[in-house]
Amino acid sequence: MTKGEENKKEILLEVRNLSVSFDVYGKVSHVLDGISFRVGKGERVGLVGESGCGKTTMLKAILRVLPRNALVGGGGIFFEGRNVFEMPDAELDVMRRRGAGMIFQDPSSALNPVFSVESQFLTALQYSNPKGTPRKKLYSLAIEALNNVVLPDPERIMKSFPYQLSGGMKQRVCIAITIAAGRRLMLADEPGTSLDVTIQDQILRLINNLAEDKKLSVIMVSHSLGVIRESTSYVNIMYAGTVVESGATEDVFKKPRHPYTVALMACVPKLTGDSLAKGIPGRIPDYTQPPGGCRFAPRCPQAEGVCREQKPPHLEVVSGHRASCHFVRRGE
Ligand SMILES: Nc1ncnc2c1ncn2[C@@H]1O[C@H](COP(=O)(O)OP(=O)(O)OP(=O)(O)O)[C@@H](O)[C@H]1O
Ligand SMILES: [Mg+2]
Repeated sequence: MTKGEENKKEILLEVRNLSVSFDVYGKVSHVLDGISFRVGKGERVGLVGESGCGKTTMLKAILRVLPRNALVGGGGIFFEGRNVFEMPDAELDVMRRRGAGMIFQDPSSALNPVFSVESQFLTALQYSNPKGTPRKKLYSLAIEALNNVVLPDPERIMKSFPYQLSGGMKQRVCIAITIAAGRRLMLADEPGTSLDVTIQDQILRLINNLAEDKKLSVIMVSHSLGVIRESTSYVNIMYAGTVVESGATEDVFKKPRHPYTVALMACVPKLTGDSLAKGIPGRIPDYTQPPGGCRFAPRCPQAEGVCREQKPPHLEVVSGHRASCHFVRRGE
């Protein structure tokens, strides 16, 4: 994406310099540290990084469903220009029901096992449609959404209880509930990673197609670079609660600039060849005492004194492609 295109896109969500910590029995974990990114209307944006780097925390912050011990230290999240942290409860409720919805890694945990799909679906639609909408109308909206997610025999699905459906079917039901409510943003937290790879692939394709057809914006969270490459047009590479690199997915994959992104790409196991992927020595820092400068410095092969002392700026290397590293130069 060129700078002109980036500035032109209509922004649905903007995360500005967000910091989130957790208080664990008086010890504070500084997890998210100055995260910023934007999601345009109909755009699919990836968040990728190792386990524990703060991806789910980021999504929970967007819906303001962070656990009680979370402290928002600064910055804001703007959904359609309104700061989520300052929304009155009623407005927040509308945003959650009609604006943004989350798809989880494990679809079983997202559906209530003791209620039928019909009962859960219609309850969700009741909240997202005008008061007094007849049940028949809600039912037909649900059937339409189930057809949209390519589920055969939607009437039977509506009568089923979650245990009567396969994992892939449950994930499709969750997606149908999200789109039927007319939400504009889908927060997809590793959708389908608990399912087998062929079903996971189908779910990703489904999300991609829906995003295109319905102009739905998506934040796709994944450990997998392959998933991100296939399903996003813009990517934020996260390391230990910071965005270390961001840009058009194609550009970042073609020429990664940050040493962490380079190392992460070298970790992808190859199906051919006989050598094992290199891996990244060390592990994510202790968030109660994160490194003062660049958070990747303790694991970075290029780190020098400045990296341990100063936070690197998120420098625009080439148009629309940014990296937070003291050794990255503009234009290179
Ligand atoms: N309620 C909480 N209290 C304390 N620490 C928490 C809490 N929730 C999350 N954390 C910490 O925040 C960090 C980021 O967690 P998060 O779940 O956001 O990571 P993630 O990138 O989604 O990881 P994964 O890929 O494994 O899902 C972790 O160190 C985690 O222990
Ligand atoms: Mg997670």
